[in-house]
Amino acid sequence: MKLLVTGGAGFIGSNFILYWLKHYPQDSVVNFDKLTYAGNLENLKEVENNSHYKFIQGDICDAESVNVAMQNIDAVVHFAAESHVDRSILEPAPFVMTNVVGTQVLLDSAVKNRVKKLHHVSTDEVFGSLSLEDTNKFNERTLNNPRSPYAASKAGSDHLVRAYHTTYGLPITITNCSNNFGPYQFPEKLIPLAITNLLEGKKVPVYGDGLYVRDWLYVEDHCRAIDIVLQKGRVGETYCVGGLTEDINNLAIIKKILSLLGKGEEFIEFVKDRPGHDRRYAIDWSKIKNELGWQPRHSFDEYLLKTVEWYKTHESWWKHVKSGEYQKYYSRQYD
Ligand code: NAD
Ligand code: DAU
Repeated sequence: MKLLVTGGAGFIGSNFILYWLKHYPQDSVVNFDKLTYAGNLENLKEVENNSHYKFIQGDICDAESVNVAMQNIDAVVHFAAESHVDRSILEPAPFVMTNVVGTQVLLDSAVKNRVKKLHHVSTDEVFGSLSLEDTNKFNERTLNNPRSPYAASKAGSDHLVRAYHTTYGLPITITNCSNNFGPYQFPEKLIPLAITNLLEGKKVPVYGDGLYVRDWLYVEDHCRAIDIVLQKGRVGETYCVGGLTEDINNLAIIKKILSLLGKGEEFIEFVKDRPGHDRRYAIDWSKIKNELGWQPRHSFDEYLLKTVEWYKTHESWWKHVKSGEYQKYYSRQYD
């Protein structure tokens, strides 16, 4: 099989390419990525000389280069997006451009080139916010209620993907997953930001009261879910993907990381809240489990330890990422 992976130089996309070439060495992967601030070819060092891997630098909004990349492709896995909620609050326009317009350009090309399958990677943020008092979870029948520019742009992309299936018969599947964590995650997101700040002797900024809850999915479990849905999922269907976490709030996560790094609570700094901050996410992943046999492999604590160890042993990777543009963003967001 020849795969086109969009956004393959980002966090989940690069983990997915490494996963795919390890499990299916006979397949070929084309990585199509614009290399925004979030794209990093360092993540793919171990496959850069693999003859089954090819990188094309390009923008999914550019129909011509997307069409060139789509030649002889069997299946597309679509990760490319602007992905950080706080950046979407500072500047929404690139989110609409890449996540909505870029997805539409990609879909047009997939129809034109008659690809056999397009898998769209989406988020639980399209469903909105649950309350702390509830025990209910998001599932595939939950209505969309996006509340940030990022979430709204991802909801727009999901609607377009479904519309291209209904209108043009494009064979698609979608996954809506929860918060990923693991190796190569850009340190603007909570877990890598906390770990790397602490490794640098800096405090961890906690928004509001810190009692916000997310569902946490280890990136390798996510890659396996995409693999199974891509190959065995029913065409036209959406699958929710989540982790093995019981409700755990941000503050409790930071305390676990402090303890793993032998630091005290004086390293917690409460800062101003995110506007429109979603209170709680939780995912019911029984559909993908019952239909396709997928489930997360390990507990949150095991994966958190593994992640902390990864950042401890990959200092040059994150120090490089945290230089330059990152510093400007950090001061704009936190000072
Ligand atoms: P990321 O920000 O780490 O990576 C995004 C990648 O897309 C980067 O390599 C970037 O260069 C590339 N890109 C951005 N704009 C592009 C464009 N116009 N053309 C081509 N490439 C472009 O993101 P991530 O965390 O790896 O997320 C990947 C996908 O998964 C996104 O669609 C995101 O919405 C979704 N998702 C992420 C999470 C999470 O917790 N990280 C959870 C649910 C869903
Ligand atoms: O739910 C899936 C989504 O998870 C993905 O679609 C997004 O691409 C991904 O960025 C992530 O969104 P969140 O906004 O949930 O992730 P983030 O790591 O930014 O924040 C996690 C929680 O931690 C959230 O409640 C905000 C809080 N937070 C975050 C940062 C960066 C803090 O308290 N302090 C911080 O400095």
